[in-house]
Amino acid sequence: MSDAAGVGPEGAAPTGDAARAARVAGAVARFTPEERERVLALRRALHAAPELSWQEHTTQRTLRAALEAAGITEIREVAGTGLVATIPGTDPAAPVIALRGDIDALPIAEETGLPFASVHPGVMHACGHDMHAAWTVAAGILLAKAPAAGTVRLVLQPAEEVGEGAARVLASGVLDGVHAIFGGHVDWRFPVGEVVATDGAIAASTDTFDVVFHGRGGHGARPQDARDPIVALAAFVMEVQTLVSRRLDPGLPGVVSVTVADAGSAANVIPERARVAGTIRATTRAARTLLCDGVRAVAESVAALHGVRAVCTLSEGTPPLLNTPTAAACARTAVREVLGASALTALPTANMGGEDFAFYTERMPGCFLRIGTLGEGRSAAGAHTPRFDPEETALFVGGAVLAACARVATAAGTSLATGVSR
Ligand code: NI
Repeated sequence: MSDAAGVGPEGAAPTGDAARAARVAGAVARFTPEERERVLALRRALHAAPELSWQEHTTQRTLRAALEAAGITEIREVAGTGLVATIPGTDPAAPVIALRGDIDALPIAEETGLPFASVHPGVMHACGHDMHAAWTVAAGILLAKAPAAGTVRLVLQPAEEVGEGAARVLASGVLDGVHAIFGGHVDWRFPVGEVVATDGAIAASTDTFDVVFHGRGGHGARPQDARDPIVALAAFVMEVQTLVSRRLDPGLPGVVSVTVADAGSAANVIPERARVAGTIRATTRAARTLLCDGVRAVAESVAALHGVRAVCTLSEGTPPLLNTPTAAACARTAVREVLGASALTALPTANMGGEDFAFYTERMPGCFLRIGTLGEGRSAAGAHTPRFDPEETALFVGGAVLAACARVATAAGTSLATGVSR
């Protein structure tokens, strides 16, 4: 899911570019040429055969083979089309850490023209989950060669795009006893070698509303005999804007977008009903509650004002994704170790996209990173577009950083456990 707000990064000075290239080369060098070949081949195999949420059967087989090739033997299915692989640590007393990569694709027809472009018509890895899956396996390659203190579980999670996979993984119990979880998303706005690992909100909640105004239909010439649901709809569309502008703290990001408005079929007929639907985004739990409650209150108030009845359905999506400060601190230590302190950056504005990793961080400390994938001379097509084409060097940055997250977090042990913030 998800893509952050579209603010492009400024081009860095040449010296910065050269320094960054050297740091990226260092991350790449953590893998042998043969390992790099395998990770690249894995990503391209996944990219060529993308599968939609809950249909990741070939993906699951491809990933299992890649994990086995890395010498990882403890692999089991989770959530139907996902996998969880366990890499035992060197110290049985050290905390257990999970690394998560999502694996599903989107219903988009690919237009990149890449030699390994999708062979499945109308389906594309346009959100980079092929990169996420491959860099999670890449982290597994490094950890299998040189295990961390604590045991590491690699979670290859299905159905992120529909916001359902993480909850299924949690329900399966495979993460019981895990002390912290890390994952990342490709980010085309940052060059390869830059990483976001900040405390707090990194993605928004994604609830939806559906309101049907039930009135009384009639002749368009005789409104006095009808109860017009379209006037209520129009009032709702305007009034609901005041939730963000007048009710929400101006310092907090929030969105209420009406994306569906549907009523009527003839110029001289007042219809029986009118329907609106849309999305509600927030980055704190309190703001989420305020906006969701507000949408319902506005619907009921405008219905009462216009003498119609509102039936308001709110559907819970993913919660706001809040990085736990203790886990985010581990992630920043890992980034500094792999890429140097100058690799750390921050989102220019709040990301109002959603991400089902949020379900994990509601249950345990965790950090979700955004990992730069903008390459030299590459098109900056955003995620969820038919020309999305992340720079593949980011596979090794992602793999090395996630492996380092596991090492740092297993060494951090007790400070993680005491740092749970809810
Ligand atoms: Ni995504």
